[in-house]
Formats: sequence, structure tokens, C-alpha cells
Amino acid sequence: MARSKTHKQLHFTEYAVVSERGVYVPSRNSETMGRDLTGAEQSVGTAQAVGRIALGDGLTAMRALPDASFDAIYLDPPFRTGKPKRGDRGLFTDQWPSMDAYLNWLSPFVAQAHRLLVPAGWFWLHLDWHSVHYAKVLTDGIFGARHFRNEIVWHYTGRRTPADRRFNQKHDTLLLYARGDKSRLSPLAEAWSREDYLHMKRQQLHHDPDGREWIWGHAGRGRSKAYRIYVDEQVSRGRAVDSVWDIPIINTSAEERTGYPTQKPVALLERVCRASVPPGGLIGDFMAGSGTTGVAACRTGRRFYLVDRLPEAVQIAEERLAEAGCPVRADEGP
Ligand SMILES: C[S@@+](CC[C@H](N)C(=O)[O-])C[C@H]1O[C@@H](n2cnc3c(N)ncnc32)[C@H](O)[C@@H]1O
Repeated sequence: MARSKTHKQLHFTEYAVVSERGVYVPSRNSETMGRDLTGAEQSVGTAQAVGRIALGDGLTAMRALPDASFDAIYLDPPFRTGKPKRGDRGLFTDQWPSMDAYLNWLSPFVAQAHRLLVPAGWFWLHLDWHSVHYAKVLTDGIFGARHFRNEIVWHYTGRRTPADRRFNQKHDTLLLYARGDKSRLSPLAEAWSREDYLHMKRQQLHHDPDGREWIWGHAGRGRSKAYRIYVDEQVSRGRAVDSVWDIPIINTSAEERTGYPTQKPVALLERVCRASVPPGGLIGDFMAGSGTTGVAACRTGRRFYLVDRLPEAVQIAEERLAEAGCPVRADEGP
């Protein structure tokens, strides 16, 4: 079993935990690993993001971990596009002989995610039109249809071309499942302008003697009381995030682009982390690619556990985390 810590800045990062036959072996016995990463006894504050990266098969890694270890699990599998996914740095296969074969491959990942989540945890499955509808049925069967919470539409901006066979495909879908009835999201808000707020309300604007702007609010149907809603207060509170997320895709000139194929934006994963992982909590990504989940977790003060089976992916993830200056946990390992 090889183990290495290649970046000084990444003392907490242990990877290349792969046997000579390419089989993933956890670097600690699973009991210790679970306690270490998730135990309440660890005083991991919001500023002390810590994480680990493993090179190996994600499913084997998941099977080696103890039950109820993670606050959230995000999986961004190959979408079954039928074509290899190639970038400047990295290439992964995305071909299955049939939908059944794909679902048979995906199903144990989802089952393991279910086992690995804490009772109030969250599961995110990121797909697109190729397979998401079939995967929804599969995931309903494992998590329970009543635990399905959202179909998040990640709408990415970018070039559009006139098309007459179908509309331009400009979104991915993230299926969001609660692990149990006690799962609660942290509400998210996005900044918006006074103009956007007033445009949405389409109401007459009034002014206090000191010039402060307000509109009438109504206490509700059948109630006569009206009250003042101050515009500045509403604008500073932000707008609740809904199920359509407008976030630019990583295009060829994006600053955060690593060259890894199908890299997702950090802004997307920051939302995932903020909404479904408490500060200091743990998110797992067992098809981690270029490590976007780790960067987002680190930037938002969450811990992470990343696995990918491709050495290029792990290498890029490690470089990104080093660049992001993730705080180091004083942990000398097992
Ligand atoms: C869509 S990409 C993930 C991209 C990632 N979210 C990012 O932002 O860079 C899918 C990843 O799944 C990985 N993968 C596929 N099968 C895997 C397996 N059995 N174990 C671990 N990783 C796997 C691929 O190597 C690829 O990096």
C-alpha cells in the first residue's frame, strides 16, 4: 500500500492509497477513519476545513467506510453520453452498452450513499437528460420517493445557436434527496438589486418623510391589515434561492478551468455545501474528478472526502486545493 503526502500545504491530504493491483485500500481501518472524520469529539471550527483525497475505485472506498459517516454526499458520475470525455488534462470513459448496464453500475453507488449518510443527511445526484429520468426512478427506490426534495436545474449561460430539431440543451439536473424526515437545509439567499426587487413586486413605491422607500404588504387573504415593507431591508436580506440555479459553465477562458473534462463550477458546489452541510461537517464525493467539491468545501469551512479512480484527476484536485490555500489540520495520520 502506497501512501504519499506530496504538497507541503496539504498535510491533511493523503492519497495514492492504492495497492499494486489497483485496488483501493483505506489508509486507516474504517472504524478509525469514520470516527476521525466525523466524530463530534473533533473540534473542527468553521475556518479549519480538512479533507482527504484517495485515488481508487469510489465504490470500493464507500464500502470500506462505516455507516452514517457523512452529512452530505454529492455524486457527479459520467452521464452516459456514449462518448469519451476528453479535456486538455484528463480523459474518462462514458460509454455503457445499455441504460440497464448504466443503472446497474450506478445503483450500488446510490445504495452506499444511503448507508453512509447521517439520518439527517443529504444526497445529491448530478446528471443530465441522458439518464436522469431513469436514475430518478432508481434513486426513489433506494431513498424512498417521499424523500425526494428537489430537481435542481443548473442553468448555464453560454453561446446559443438556432436549432430546429430541439432547443439548445443548457442545463444539468441535480436530484436532491433527504436521508430522513429530519433533514433540514440551510436556506440560501442570493444578492439582488433594488431594481430587480421592484421589478418583481411591480407595486407602487412610497416614501417616508426621510426619503426611505417602501411598498404596501398585506397580512394575507381575508385580513385587512396592511403593513409597510421597506425596500432597503428586503434588498439587503437577498432573495431566497430557488430550484433553478443560474451559474456560468466553465468555458475555455474561465479562470478556474483546470482542463479536466466536465469540471463543474466551484460556485455550484459552494451552494451544495452551504445548503446541506453544517459548518465543519463532512461531504463525500466518490467520483470527484478535478476536486471541485473539495475546493468548495474548503472555501466554505466544511470537511471533505474525495475519491477518483484516475490519477490525473487526483493530481489536479491536489493542485487546486494547494492553490486554494486550504487550512491544514495538525494530523500526523494513523
Ligand atoms: C463527471 S466527472 C466528475 C467531475 C467533477 N465533479 C469535477 O468538477 O471535476 C466523473 C468522474 O467520475 C470518475 N469515476 C468514474 N467511475 C469511477 C469509479 N468507479 N470510481 C471513482 N471515480 C470514478 C471519473 O474518473 C470522472 O473523473
